[in-house]
Amino acid sequence: MLKKTVAGLAGIATLAFAGAAGAQEPIKIGLLLPMTGPFASTGRQVEAAARLYHGQHCQTVAGRPVQILLKDDTGTADVTRRLAQEFVVNDKVNVLAGFGLTPLAFATAPIATQAKTPMVVMAAATSAITEQSPFIVRSSFTLPQVTVPLAEWASKNGIKRVMTLVTDYAPGIDAETAFKGRFTQDGGQVLSELRVPLRNPDFAPFLQRVADAKPDAVFVFVPSGVGAAFMKQFSERGLDKSGVRLIATGDVTDDDILNEMGEVALGTITTHHYSAAHDSPENKAFVEAFRKAANMRPNFMGVGGFDGMHLICEALKKTNAGAGDALVEAMKGMKWTSPRGPVSIDPETRDIVQNVYVRRVERRDGELYNVEFATIEAVKDPVKAAKK
Ligand code: DHB
Repeated sequence: MLKKTVAGLAGIATLAFAGAAGAQEPIKIGLLLPMTGPFASTGRQVEAAARLYHGQHCQTVAGRPVQILLKDDTGTADVTRRLAQEFVVNDKVNVLAGFGLTPLAFATAPIATQAKTPMVVMAAATSAITEQSPFIVRSSFTLPQVTVPLAEWASKNGIKRVMTLVTDYAPGIDAETAFKGRFTQDGGQVLSELRVPLRNPDFAPFLQRVADAKPDAVFVFVPSGVGAAFMKQFSERGLDKSGVRLIATGDVTDDDILNEMGEVALGTITTHHYSAAHDSPENKAFVEAFRKAANMRPNFMGVGGFDGMHLICEALKKTNAGAGDALVEAMKGMKWTSPRGPVSIDPETRDIVQNVYVRRVERRDGELYNVEFATIEAVKDPVKAAKK
């Protein structure tokens, strides 16, 4: 009798232990980022911000530890695709995240669909990305979302003749199309559309064409990290003193490298969703914690990583560590106060809805900042809004 009871108890103990072991199984977030190569600054920002959020708010969910696994895709689509496959098959990650450039997000979308694994795009910003898989949710922005408000600002501020100059790949084409569409609709004229190669860009021949044509302004998009090289060539050609105004998406006056640009950047008007100078308690806390943790100033890529982790962690909490479709459903319609301001996930498009700010580069306490002076509230991706 006694023996039986002991055996029974042992059985219960074994079951309880198995249960506890199961509950301890980690939740894995597979982060794919360019940590080396020309776009390593994007990887560095997103990684630092994701780890910051993880340390502050997301070390465990439903009693299970949350792990960030990081792989360096070097900014090459074939590598991203292979590493995403490894994350899904070998590591059995619950979520794929990161994606520093549009081609890398495009390459991974079919894997997310096939594996039914949520894919959180924290950086890449071509409008069409979220249409590549129902498992994609985006925490960054879209180029049309931030560009249309700049075209509107230009028309209202006496700018009539513009040349556009963008990096020649999907987000650049998105920016060019959005700018031209809105600016010409408001009666402006686009003199020519210049496209600079993504790899090893030389701006000089394009800037010469701008100098020769003398438009009222040149509208520019280059990806994060490239703005400093652009600004250097802009001033070397004397364009900063030529009367041609520089207007750009905030990718050009990226907070991570803005200080290196020096005087030439002063007065540049940009539109974007995040500035390290954004005046809110949430942003002050974010900038301070980011500096402490990573010894640098966060930029818009950093905030995309921070908010992407918020999205993942809140969805995990809401579903008690759910997976696949359930996790994507939990992300749809989510609302929160980001360091960038109020944001939400559009349940129809899975894109982020956010304020877009008009900013001017100014010196504050000896440092250059994008100082916000106007706000356009709750902007959706205009490309998808127009399709409805
Ligand atoms: C993309 C990359 C960037 O660095 C950026 O600033 C905007 C868009 C992209 O490839 O989608």
